[in-house]
Amino acid sequence: MDYEAVKTLVGKYEESFGGLEGLRCARAPGRVNLIGEHTDYNGGFVMPMAVDREVRVFFRATERGPVRLWSENYGEWDEFDLGSIERNGRQPWSSYPRGVALVLQEAGYKLQPIEGLVYGDVPIGAGLSSSAALEVALARAFCAAAGLELGSRELALLCQRAENWFVGVNCGIMDQFVSIHAQREHALLLDCRSLEHELLPLDTSAVRVVVCNTMVHHELGSSAYNERRARCEEAARTLNEQVGGICQLRDVTPEILAEHGRALDKVTLKRARHVVSENHRTIKAAEALKVRDYEAFGRLMDESHESLRRDYEVSCVELDLMVRLARQRSGVLGSRMVGAGFGGCTVHLVRRDRADRVAEGMHAAYLKATGTEPEVYQFVAVSGATVERC
Ligand code: GLA
Repeated sequence: MDYEAVKTLVGKYEESFGGLEGLRCARAPGRVNLIGEHTDYNGGFVMPMAVDREVRVFFRATERGPVRLWSENYGEWDEFDLGSIERNGRQPWSSYPRGVALVLQEAGYKLQPIEGLVYGDVPIGAGLSSSAALEVALARAFCAAAGLELGSRELALLCQRAENWFVGVNCGIMDQFVSIHAQREHALLLDCRSLEHELLPLDTSAVRVVVCNTMVHHELGSSAYNERRARCEEAARTLNEQVGGICQLRDVTPEILAEHGRALDKVTLKRARHVVSENHRTIKAAEALKVRDYEAFGRLMDESHESLRRDYEVSCVELDLMVRLARQRSGVLGSRMVGAGFGGCTVHLVRRDRADRVAEGMHAAYLKATGTEPEVYQFVAVSGATVERC
């Protein structure tokens, strides 16, 4: 967020809360996942980077009274007591502060009320993790207000729990983890089982990350997500009966699947094939990035999209169109849908000297083909969540 935007928000805070005494700001970025889709909840590998779109919470601790928050995105207040947190179905965004405060308290942390202004410029519902950014920024704000210093891994897990148990989306750990642990100019290779991670430099003098927002969001999204997750668990159970030693699809090698896949029904086999191959691709992509072999990385992104489209079946007409339009352009090394699917964004690895032209061309081509104006972003990799004095 640039200086002018922050200045305006601080001004609004002053108007709403009558002063700037003790004001601090927690920020947490959204993310784009370069490769490793629908692998996190299977204990597998992902490779996201944090992007220069973020959520900011301007806040100060208060001695008593309720938590009072103003959402600048929704133009609404939310107020709740830390001692009795319930869902407020009329304001879905309020599930995030309430859920985060609740899980922190359930984990044994004593919180203090805050008053704050919340604003994010991560596109909402576009597969760029606006929810995780919101959770992480709020969690950081609550912890800072109460003088708590939680480990970053614990913080990520608690934010994920808020999303799973309070918001009701059965997501994996990728989004919250990268929003906290990301580093400038790096992608993050994360083992979602052990939570071991490695930062991989992104050479911005050679390549750029272009992201295209199809501007569609198909309702199927969250029910299909939970259904895919259940199928993967079923596949792991069945394969475990065959070979043993399998807790999650992460433990299944391509060889095991080739030999025992017939124990699965046709659809479950396709789902498992995506996850097993995507894990393999993500590890290969990390190797390619380390030696700056961007062509190889791009090919793996292309294969990832095909696997998500054919085997996992979470793409849609608009995402496929965006990917096809990109593949026709010179300088595009790889293209794939990003996030849960059924709409939202595609991500493209593009040669740096072609990035502006590709971005402009994609905008025009998608508009011409669909009549819908897409948003096209050239993201840089930023660092994870912070809390600062204002
Ligand atoms: C959503 C979830 C993540 C992950 C992706 C798919 O973004 O929040 O945990 O499962 O979908 O890779």
